[in-house]
Formats: sequence, C-alpha cells, structure tokens
Amino acid sequence: MYWNLLEGGSPDFLAIGIFKSILDLDMGKIRIAVLFGGRSAEHEVSIQSAQNVVAALDKSKFDVSLIGIDRNGTWYYNSECEKLLNLPAYKKTDLSQIGDSTLLIHNSGRSSLVRTEDLSPLADIDVVFPVLHGPFGEDGTVQGLLKLAGVPFVGCSVLGSAIGMDKDVMKRLLRDAGISVADFTTLRSRKYDTKAIVSKLGFPVYVKPANMGSSVGVSRASNESELKVAIDEAFNYDRKVIIEKEVRGRELEVSVLGNRDIEVSRVGEIKPKSGFYSYESKYLESESASLEIPANLDSETETRVQSIAQEAYKILECEGMARVDLFLREDGRVCVNEINTIPGFTKISMYPKLWEVTGISYSNLLDRLVSLALERHEEEKALKVSR
Ligand SMILES: Nc1ncnc2c1ncn2[C@@H]1O[C@H](COP(=O)(O)OP(=O)(O)O)[C@@H](O)[C@H]1O
Ligand SMILES: [Mg+2]
Repeated sequence: MYWNLLEGGSPDFLAIGIFKSILDLDMGKIRIAVLFGGRSAEHEVSIQSAQNVVAALDKSKFDVSLIGIDRNGTWYYNSECEKLLNLPAYKKTDLSQIGDSTLLIHNSGRSSLVRTEDLSPLADIDVVFPVLHGPFGEDGTVQGLLKLAGVPFVGCSVLGSAIGMDKDVMKRLLRDAGISVADFTTLRSRKYDTKAIVSKLGFPVYVKPANMGSSVGVSRASNESELKVAIDEAFNYDRKVIIEKEVRGRELEVSVLGNRDIEVSRVGEIKPKSGFYSYESKYLESESASLEIPANLDSETETRVQSIAQEAYKILECEGMARVDLFLREDGRVCVNEINTIPGFTKISMYPKLWEVTGISYSNLLDRLVSLALERHEEEKALKVSR
C-alpha cells in the first residue's frame, strides 16, 4: 500500500496517507515485517516475543511477514505466520528450516526483501518491527542497517539503542545528569586489581557483561573468590564488564512510549522469590518471580518513579519505546538500574502489561509503535542531507 501510494502521489500525500492508513481501515494495509531470532543469547526469548507480536497485530490493518534471523546471523523470509506461531517455545529452533534466505535492499526509494540466491523479489515492506533482544538486535546494529536501507522501524534509533545496550555508558550519562544509579566500576580486560574494586564497592556486588540482557552472564558476588568467577563469566559475553554495588530495595519497572511527547505507564514491581531476577526466573521458572501490576505504591512515590523514568528515557536519547527499570531503596530514594529499548514483548511481559493497566491494549500499543516509527521516518526524510 505504502509504495503504491508513493508511485501515485507526492511525498506529502504519502505522509498523510500512512498515518490515515493506520487509523483508518479503508486506506489499505501496511506491510510490516517482524524481525526476530538473532545472534544473541536471547534468541529464544525473541522468538516468544515475536510469536505474541505476530498474533496480536491487527490483520485488518497489517500485512504481516516474518524475517527470522538464525544464530549465524542469516536472514530468512517467511510469509506464513502460522509456522512461527506453532514453533515450540524454548526448543532449539532452526529458523533456516522455515523460509528462504533473504537480503534487505534499498533501490530507487523502495525497501525490498529479495531471495539471496538470485535476488528475485520476495516482498516490499513499509515498516520493520525488530523484536530482537540483546546484542545484534537491540544495540543499534540492526537499527543502523534498517536506517541505511531507508525503511521505517519500530523503537529507538541507532544512538538510543547503542546507549541503552551499554550499561557503562548508560550509567555514566544518567549519573552526569544527576539521576541516581548504583556505584559502579568498569573493567576492560581480565587483568584487574581486585583490591581496588573491593575498596571502592565492598560486597556484595553484581557483575555483568556491559552489553547483554536477560541476566545472561550476570552474577552476584559476596567475596573475592566469587568476584573472580563472576568477572570471568561476564568476560565470556563482552569485552567490557561492569561491577555494581548491590542496591537493597524493591525492583520497579515503568513502560515509556513516544518520540517527542513521552508517555509513561503505571509502575510495576518484580518480586523475585529468592536471589535476584535471573535468566531462570525470567523465562524458565515462572514460579520463582512474580510481577505486581501495578505495584503497591503510594501516589507520591509512583509519580516520582514515573518522572524519573521519563527523564531517564530523554537523557538516554530514546524514541519509540523503552522500559525503564529502577530500584526503590529502603530509605525511599529511587535509582535507575537500566533501560531496555526492546523489552520483552510476550503477552505476559511487563512492558505491554503495564500499558494495559494504563489503558492501552496490546494491539493498540502495536499500532502506536508503528505510527511512531512512520512519524520519525517522515521527519527524517524531510531533512536536508547536504546544502
Ligand atoms: N546493583 C544491583 N543491586 C541489586 N540487584 C541487582 C543489581 N544489578 C542487578 N541486579 C539484579 O540482577 C538482575 C539483572 O540485572 P540487570 O542489570 O537488570 O541486567 P539485564 O540487562 O541482564 O536484565 C536485576 O533485575 C536485579 O534483580
Ligand atoms: Mg534487567
């Protein structure tokens, strides 16, 4: 629909046409490609999120196609969504079995998927929804590729994605802006001074790969020998490791939405039954953590948490969406733990659940995200690239 309009009309007409076509059902369908899988340790989580997104996209507004990225980074095109919906969760899935190897190309103003073998066309796309968590998906790399290919995409752009992925840069920016974060230190090699870390942070500490997610490679250390093991483990996932002082308090999350006008949701709470919110408690042992939506907070605290989340989103150059995770310390102070620019997107995930209690349904949320993607793309297209 989008490119048919382009062929027939002026860019102004096109811009109006897109926004109407989301809100206005008789304008035709938007061709959306859901990008999922990927090379990160969160491959399976991404498949689950994508399954839910595909199921909830309003098929009267969207023509949905899928791009599955396998663990080697190869893209596969599959227009039959049912195949994805039927994939068993958490089983090792080989995405190469369910489609044609594809490339995204940009030619004469059109963004198209072509078959790798012979470059024959597979589909034209109007917008991409990257449902990819972690490195090579949430970190600005895929966003850079989509930007070069000239295709609108959901979520943060290159800069916001890269900042949001890097816990060290993220925390430096927040700290410099006066937003409280846990005390931390950063290592760039396996050669480090244990005494210096301990005298700066004490115990217990959390050790994390700087660029990762879903608690992959994250450990809590209470003494020097645990610290060494934890640092070794974190360096398996990244060349940079961050060590943080433990924050005692409640774990809160806020969903944020918008480009320039930024909306925040009610606040939710994560209650890990024991230990911290690990990979297992996030995805494998649903009993080991519970989500309280909305969190039981007095209204002054909730408003304070929401405004810090909104501020963090702006400082970290986010657009489209992000989930801001915070701690409410025992003494009532709030600090930001991290921002997730492509939060978990299953129907039971915090990001969409928080919008639901704030008054935006899952499928309405998807419409809003696509509109924001198209809006940004139109604004960028209107900019001069040279004098
Ligand atoms: N400084 C900290 N103090 C207390 N708990 C922490 C701290 N950092 C991390 N955690 C615990 O570890 C979990 C995972 O850490 P997080 O920084 O959110 O990494 P990820 O990006 O992998 O989700 C958090 O949800 C929290 O339960
Ligand atoms: Mg987290």
